[in-house]
Amino acid sequence: MSRRFLVALGGAVLALSLAACSGEGAGSGDGGGGDKPADLTIGVSMPTQTSERWIADGNSVKEKLEAKGYKVDLQYAGDDIPTQSQQVDQMITQGADVLIIAAIDGTALSGQLQAAADAKIPVIAYDRLIRDSKNVDFYVSFDNYKVGVAQATALLVGLGLQNKDGSKGSAAGPFNIELFAGSLDDNNAHFFFDGAMDTLKPFIDNKSLRVKSGQTAIEQVAILRWQQETAQKRMEDLLTSSYNDGSKVQGVLSPYDGLSRGIITALQNAGYGASANKMPVVTGQDAEIASVKLINDGVQSSTIFKDTRLLAEQAVIAGEAFLQDKDPQANDTKTYDNGVKVVPSYLLPVQTVYKDDIKPVLIDSGYWTADEVKSGQAKG
Ligand code: BGC
Repeated sequence: MSRRFLVALGGAVLALSLAACSGEGAGSGDGGGGDKPADLTIGVSMPTQTSERWIADGNSVKEKLEAKGYKVDLQYAGDDIPTQSQQVDQMITQGADVLIIAAIDGTALSGQLQAAADAKIPVIAYDRLIRDSKNVDFYVSFDNYKVGVAQATALLVGLGLQNKDGSKGSAAGPFNIELFAGSLDDNNAHFFFDGAMDTLKPFIDNKSLRVKSGQTAIEQVAILRWQQETAQKRMEDLLTSSYNDGSKVQGVLSPYDGLSRGIITALQNAGYGASANKMPVVTGQDAEIASVKLINDGVQSSTIFKDTRLLAEQAVIAGEAFLQDKDPQANDTKTYDNGVKVVPSYLLPVQTVYKDDIKPVLIDSGYWTADEVKSGQAKG
């Protein structure tokens, strides 16, 4: 008899006998496969509400789980590592049955994950891999290396060095560019940067691209906690230190829309984007509404769209599998080594969005409305 059939037929009996055997009831961290959804709680730990993608992720996961009848404990940690540790600790002591965690610092949760493992609570790393722990049971994310490739490709296309179909573009350069990366404690930042640099390297080597500041190592270009203001400050510093000789920056590799907006502000304050002083080609990620408007207005060049609705769906599928004592289905079992083990993963594809793609990709799919794109504000 299949587990699923057993659950449907004899859920109550099974739950009772499990509780009798283990001394644990619903909400004890042992989903048990027999408990009713209403008796099961999923702890969802998100990093911050300052970026709209994480709000959308949190809401989608919560809504989808609640629609299936589960209880959800959704917490945001304000980008503060001790707060996130505390919130996860609390979810464990309050008897969560599964944890879904998007970590602030991918290396800071080993203690919590050990406590989760001791209480037999499966842990799903959400979008950001949790490192240095054997207790990460599954990972749902996008193809993060390809995000970096797509960002670098969008930079090449924007500059005219390459066409969208991958063929050689009509421009020859040399172009001055600057590079930005995300937070070093976020595993994704490294994947994005590696994908981007592998793509840009041949163009840097053949001198059609020049990083005028000379800052090409991830440690030199990373922005702690993905902060917009820090990116603005670094761009201002770069303009002062490397472009005070009349030369112009023509392209900026930016891995996230929030950073792109900081970079664009620094450039605008220095006179870029006015009259003949062209705004450089600036990339991005996440299709945040303020940035989609900037793309629509011709200020930002591109973003990478990652459909958080689909990611939330995968997290829910994986969570439910664990609750039914099954292993979630992975589509990648090689790429994501967290330093202790390779974590089975489900990776979703990503899509580059230039101005022309806003309608077909973002509006027609219901991600943003035409009004939101026009105003640059989410209606909620
Ligand atoms: C996510 C990106 C996001 C960044 C900043 C990364 O871990 O994968 O989508 O732009 O964090 O929030």
